[in-house]
Amino acid sequence: ELDGGTQPMVFGGRSDAGGEACTGCSRQCTGSASDGVRAMQSCPERAEAMADKMVKLVALRRAANRTRKLAVVLFNFPPNGGAAGTAQFLAVFDSLHRTLVRLKAEGYDVEVPANSDEVRRRVIGGNAMQYGQEANVHAFVPADRIVATEPYLAEIEQEWGPAPGKFQSDGKNVLITGAQFGNMFVGIQPANGYESDPMRLLFDGRFAPTHAFMAFYRWIRNDFGAHAVIHWGTHGSLEFMPGKQTGMTMSCWPERIIQDLPNIYLYAANNPSEGVLAKRRSGATLVSYLTPALTNSGLYKGLSDIKASVDRWRATEPGSSDLPGLEEIIREQAEAIDLDSSDISQLAAKLYEIERELIPQGLHVFGDAESEDARIDMLAASAQARTSGLGGAGEAIDRDTIEKLINGRIVPNTPVLIELAKLNAALSVNHEMNGLIRALDGRYVPPVAGGDILRDPEILPTGRNIHGFDPFRLPSAYACRDGAAQAERILDRALEDAGKLPETVAMVLWGTDNLKSEGAQVAQAMALMGAKPRFDSYSRLAGAELIPLEQLGRPRVDVLVTLSGVFRDLLPLQTRMLAEAALLASEADEPPEANFVRKHSLSYSQEHGCDMATAALRVYSNAEGSYGANVNLLIDSGGWTDPNELADTYEKQKGYAYGVDGKPNRQPGLLASALKTVDCAYQNLESVELGITTIDQYVDTLGGISRAITRAKGGEAAPVYIGDQTQGSGKVRSLQEQVALETRTRTLNPVWIEAQLKYGYEGVRQVEAAVTTTTGWSATTGQVDPWVYQRISETYMLDEAMRQRIAEMNPRAAAKIANRLIEAAERNFWQPDAETLAALQAATDAIEDQLEGVAPPTTMAA
Ligand code: BEZ
Ligand code: MG
Repeated sequence: ELDGGTQPMVFGGRSDAGGEACTGCSRQCTGSASDGVRAMQSCPERAEAMADKMVKLVALRRAANRTRKLAVVLFNFPPNGGAAGTAQFLAVFDSLHRTLVRLKAEGYDVEVPANSDEVRRRVIGGNAMQYGQEANVHAFVPADRIVATEPYLAEIEQEWGPAPGKFQSDGKNVLITGAQFGNMFVGIQPANGYESDPMRLLFDGRFAPTHAFMAFYRWIRNDFGAHAVIHWGTHGSLEFMPGKQTGMTMSCWPERIIQDLPNIYLYAANNPSEGVLAKRRSGATLVSYLTPALTNSGLYKGLSDIKASVDRWRATEPGSSDLPGLEEIIREQAEAIDLDSSDISQLAAKLYEIERELIPQGLHVFGDAESEDARIDMLAASAQARTSGLGGAGEAIDRDTIEKLINGRIVPNTPVLIELAKLNAALSVNHEMNGLIRALDGRYVPPVAGGDILRDPEILPTGRNIHGFDPFRLPSAYACRDGAAQAERILDRALEDAGKLPETVAMVLWGTDNLKSEGAQVAQAMALMGAKPRFDSYSRLAGAELIPLEQLGRPRVDVLVTLSGVFRDLLPLQTRMLAEAALLASEADEPPEANFVRKHSLSYSQEHGCDMATAALRVYSNAEGSYGANVNLLIDSGGWTDPNELADTYEKQKGYAYGVDGKPNRQPGLLASALKTVDCAYQNLESVELGITTIDQYVDTLGGISRAITRAKGGEAAPVYIGDQTQGSGKVRSLQEQVALETRTRTLNPVWIEAQLKYGYEGVRQVEAAVTTTTGWSATTGQVDPWVYQRISETYMLDEAMRQRIAEMNPRAAAKIANRLIEAAERNFWQPDAETLAALQAATDAIEDQLEGVAPPTTMAA
């Protein structure tokens, strides 16, 4: 796994010599070493599975290109909102069209439609309306056949009722959606079934994929006869199905679904952790793809007007008679765009922050090299990142110089220019398609560690099999120093806002972010507690130790750590280290006022009548084989009335404490006590492409815990902070500031909007994701300014031309935006005037009529 090997699997091990049945798989073998010797032996089920996988891989390699059959799996998450055929950072249909063209040239017997729109129309259009589905219905799998052949029928029926179930079915058959292009079938992965009703997961611990999910993969294997399956972009839900964390067996759903099918997975190069899980739990060979080029947000409309006034104000002599008039203008201009003008110097700093914020330019087309413009932007972003700290020493480099460098008009003669020239060369070519072709030949795809292009340009060229890196080295010495500085920054900000040092900070830790930063967030949690990692004589992580209080110079701050399921899977040593740090601090013979960890543990131990080892539990995550808090699903479905329901699902999902033995134990009572002591909640932002309104997992984890804290504290919310580490040496923002910044630099910014809408259908889905996620922050924290909804409404719905444009590109997503804004008003996240609300209602009606085919599709207003 660490070297980028494909299909990591466990096929044997040492028996424990007790003669007891092995519970790892369905065969229940007993150990053969009855003489007490711990003998190596293979597990027959796994050995056969490995052989089967190799047979299929050989068959793939031997099949002539013209006979090779490929099943591409697209995703549809969340379902029912114009997300069918979208993936993170990827222009899915353009990428598919390019691939069909290349495969044809390689001799595959595929049909190549005229353009990517045609591919999209065939896949998500076709007869979809007729069947009330989100994509074309390509095949039917009769219930009788499912009943006669599905080996896991009983488990599936227990959860979803008699076959074919109600998801993606007509009552008699499961409907397979997608379209076929010669020897390539492009299908849509069915929903996992819980999205529309996540509360279901709370009431029974069982979980099984739907009839439709199983039937889809069986159809691909048995009916279509695929030689290989290609999962098209980051990411689907197969590899997150329940089962063991590692060493899958036939008792695990991912293995039951994928079995021996060669699995190729296009994966964003910046997401090593979820990528590693795709390898670990679904035997995937990853083929990495580039994230979109970055550019500065810049200023637009009212923002550029006010910048001009502020510049003039700065150039005006103090005491000049022009000043009062100028300040009046600035106040008016600021008010018009919801900016605070009480301190004009601070306003100037805010404008600079907005202007310089890096934003992604649309989506990436698989296999495409970057254009000259995009390379100029990327090199400028890279230079900016270096000068401000990411790469250490550097110098500001203007675009003019970069342009000359790219065109060979200057010779790179400084270390920074040499680096930029290398980056330019690496971005001028793209090997992704070659990587895919090699994988389809069943051949070796060279490995590379995943990471961000600004921090780790070594991820280029993409088109390689990404992997994580050695977890024994994490947190690194650099991360410990950096993490300690970050911890002080968060304490400074919390102190400034609250007037006292926080006793407990709730921190959310992700796997990807720690892999990218060598463990900076783990180090931060350790620093807050006044602890550091302990390494053995081989420099491998061995546990935690305390920093003496005299050296720390402040009290030990308590930390309530919640781990993503991904972190829990990838970083077990770090999970135990954090638990050990909390235990050591709890046991330290120190005065409680200088050690908040101990102070709280003493009180929990009294309150719950438990021992210190239990009272010291501070690291929480999901149950084994479970991921996420489901708060995002509830937000998306809109299926909640009381915000306490959000807290319920959060605590239910994340209520498993991981102690020094690394094992999960459900501890709802202790978690509730710990939540009560929290003074602020916090998460880092480590991926420059992402914002907290871009994907819904920040709301799921940080928003979820914030809502749980508010409930635990009897309705009193704790401040929520974001540690933005994506530019410079990092910056702590309140949640309100972060949402405002992202709204201005992305959701309302014509540069961002046009870059998204260039990809039509998929771009509108990105806008919808931002709007829905923004409402998630209101729901969980209540810290989103009302102007955000007003301006989003004006930009996308009250502007007639824009509304028609997005409704035509992706009517489902456009309708969802309109409905979401109305839902936000109903939930009192903002209070639109009657006229605005009526206009929103009219917009929804118009789009929904169009969706139902009542009115002919509107054309662009002249
Ligand atoms: C993680 O790496 O831990 C993670 C990534 C994306 C969403 C949630 C968690
Ligand atoms: Mg940013």
